[in-house]
Order: sequence, then structure tokens, then C-alpha cells
Amino acid sequence: MKSCGKGVYLRPMSSDIKGLRNLSVGDGTSIPKGSTFYCTEAPLTIGRKVIFGPHPTIITGDHRIDIIGKHIIDVTVEEKLPENDLPVTIEDGVWVGANVTILKGVTIGRGSVIAAGAVVTKSFPPYSIIGGVPAKLIRMRFTEEEIKQHENSLGER
Ligand SMILES: CC(C)(COP(=O)(O)OP(=O)(O)OC[C@H]1O[C@@H](n2cnc3c(N)ncnc32)[C@H](O)[C@@H]1OP(=O)(O)O)[C@@H](O)C(=O)NCCC(=O)NCCS
Repeated sequence: MKSCGKGVYLRPMSSDIKGLRNLSVGDGTSIPKGSTFYCTEAPLTIGRKVIFGPHPTIITGDHRIDIIGKHIIDVTVEEKLPENDLPVTIEDGVWVGANVTILKGVTIGRGSVIAAGAVVTKSFPPYSIIGGVPAKLIRMRFTEEEIKQHENSLGER
């Protein structure tokens, strides 16, 4: 792995993880068996104290689909465009609900919640509660004042 923090719960033998060299996981994060993480040429960075529900899927790239006269499976890595692979970042303290899919180029702000079954195609700011296909903001988890109190109590910022 690119980096692995302390106290990480990870079940690599019962998960499907590709591109480990591009995977970073922070301290105290919990990743269940049955996780699917495909790190392409772009990295997947998971922060500290992140909790995943069952069956998360995170993929930091797409196949290239605009080449005429070639099946998608026959397009090589060398033929990919920079925008086909984009980093995914899940910041500290996020809760990812069951059966969530997160696609390329997405940053989930710290302390956010992703509702069960979401497909996340764009980034969201800290303390968002998001859900649906494609994921949209359901509501904010805390007010600005509550965020200050929360982060002061955690003593992390
Ligand atoms: C995201 C979640 C925490 C929200 O809980 P909540 O604050 O009690 O939210 P509510 O039930 O009051 O719903 C608020 C709105 O979000 C919607 N919503 C809730 N869960 C949703 C989901 N999974 N997908 C899409 N929309 C969802 C509700 O329909 C509701 O919409 P409305 O205001 O238009 O009626 C919860 O629904 C959820 O998905 N939990 C994940 C559980 C899980 O996966 N656990 C795994 C073990 S770690």
C-alpha cells in the first residue's frame, strides 16, 4: 500500500482490491470484508476514523469509451486519457452506508454521511449527509456552530 495507518481494520483476502500501490488508509479506519476498491492510475485516499458499511465499491477511473473501431475491453492503459482516471478522497470521520458506490474524481468532506445504496458521482463538503442515485445532498449533519463544538471536542483541528 501507499500508506496504512495504525489500528486499521482491513480484510484484503476477502475483498477485491486492485492497485494497492495507490491506496492510502488512515489511522483507526474500518473496511469490511467484501469491499471492492479499484485504484487505477489515480489514487484512493481514505482518511482517519472512516467507517464503511457492507459492500463498498470505490473505483478511481473509467474505461475509455470514445474510440471508434475498438471494443472497450481492447483499449489499453496507454491509450487512456488523464481525465479517465481521477483521485478519490474520503476525508476523516466519514460514515459510508451499506452498498455505496463512489466513482472517480470524488472528494467526500470530513465527517460526512453517505446513505445506504448511494452512487456518488461528485464531491460534497464536510458534514454533508448525501444519498440517492446519483447522490444529492439530503441535509447538513451539523450547523456551523455545532461543527466548531464537535471539532473542538475532538481536539483535531
Ligand atoms: C443516511 C441515513 C443515516 C439518514 O438517516 P436519517 O437522518 O434518520 O434520515 P431520514 O430517515 O429522516 O430521511 C431523511 C431524508 O433522506 C432520505 N433518505 C434516507 N435514507 C436514504 C437513502 N439510503 N437513500 C436515499 N435517500 C435516503 C429520506 O427518504 C428522507 O427524504 P425526504 O426528506 O425527502 O422524505 C440513513 O437513511 C442511512 O442510509 N443509514 C445507513 C445505514 C447503513 O447502511 N448501515 C450500515 C452499517 S455501518
